[in-house]
Amino acid sequence: DWSMTSFIQDCIQEIREMIPDDEQVVCGLSGGIDSTVVAVLLHKAIGKRLHCILVDNGVLRHNEALEVVESLTKHFDLNLKHVEAQDLFLSRLHGVKDPEEKRKIIGHTFIEVFEKEAKSIPDVKWLAQGTLYPDVIESVSFKGPSAVIKSHHNVGGLPEKMDLKLVEPLRELFKDEVRKVAVELGIPDTIVWRHPFPGPGLAIRVIGTITPERLEILRKSDRIVQNELFASNWYTRVWQGFAVLLPLKTVGVMGDERTYEHVVALRIVDSIDAMTADWSRIPPEILARISNRIINEVQGVNRVVFDISSKPPSTIEWE
Ligand code: XMP
Repeated sequence: DWSMTSFIQDCIQEIREMIPDDEQVVCGLSGGIDSTVVAVLLHKAIGKRLHCILVDNGVLRHNEALEVVESLTKHFDLNLKHVEAQDLFLSRLHGVKDPEEKRKIIGHTFIEVFEKEAKSIPDVKWLAQGTLYPDVIESVSFKGPSAVIKSHHNVGGLPEKMDLKLVEPLRELFKDEVRKVAVELGIPDTIVWRHPFPGPGLAIRVIGTITPERLEILRKSDRIVQNELFASNWYTRVWQGFAVLLPLKTVGVMGDERTYEHVVALRIVDSIDAMTADWSRIPPEILARISNRIINEVQGVNRVVFDISSKPPSTIEWE
């Protein structure tokens, strides 16, 4: 794609002109497409003067941090630090039930951990961020419903607090253009087509209080959802698909035994921009397979339900 190739060339040129030779740039990597594209562009422009930081907050999906580190260091020789902060995040989330409280704790803890790492790099003067055009407009003139209802999205306040200058190479792009740039840059499909994943991660999908056991049940269930969406070729046809662990137990039966165990909800939606959404009309056989696998393979779950609510009035996430 010619226009994307020229975007990439111009962008690399601009970055080189903007950032003096003796200054370093720091970038938070999440494994999502935006931060990955930013990192690869910066890396092409300034090489090892870009320092990427991936914070494991303890509420990532199964194997997620390792997969991200592996795929990015394998494909692109990125300067990437994997910070294992699971215990810190989980101890602060201990006993917390309120969704907004969870978001705040995760947001603040992220800033704290990120800041500490960034400060340990000499001559860091810049923060690279994956701000897109819709974020730019939204922050000046318009707040979408979810921005108001849930304290949203990428953690604000970092640049001001750390006194860093911002480099935002995607400021003029829409999501579909970012995908084209990503393809052009040779970023793997698993990242290009990855579903959106909230900053507060699985913390807002374990409804109610978070414990290591409950997180593990959700991780195993969610992994089955992801696998089955891939296997059936439905992964790229839906906007987002995931599991949610409910804060209740229900009665079931196994052999001659009564069971009393957890309920997992499936949330699989179609959407164009996450502002509105509807539940995906996914074939019942696939739902059946997901349900059977979760109940058979995930210890502690005896019931799976499918969420058939649209947004509005529901939201995509349950918290
Ligand atoms: P809702 O639940 O508001 O979600 O319909 C809309 C989109 O935003 C994602 N989402 C979040 N992303 N931090 C994020 O970075 C958050 O706190 C957050 N809450 C929801 C959600 O996954 C969906 O794509």
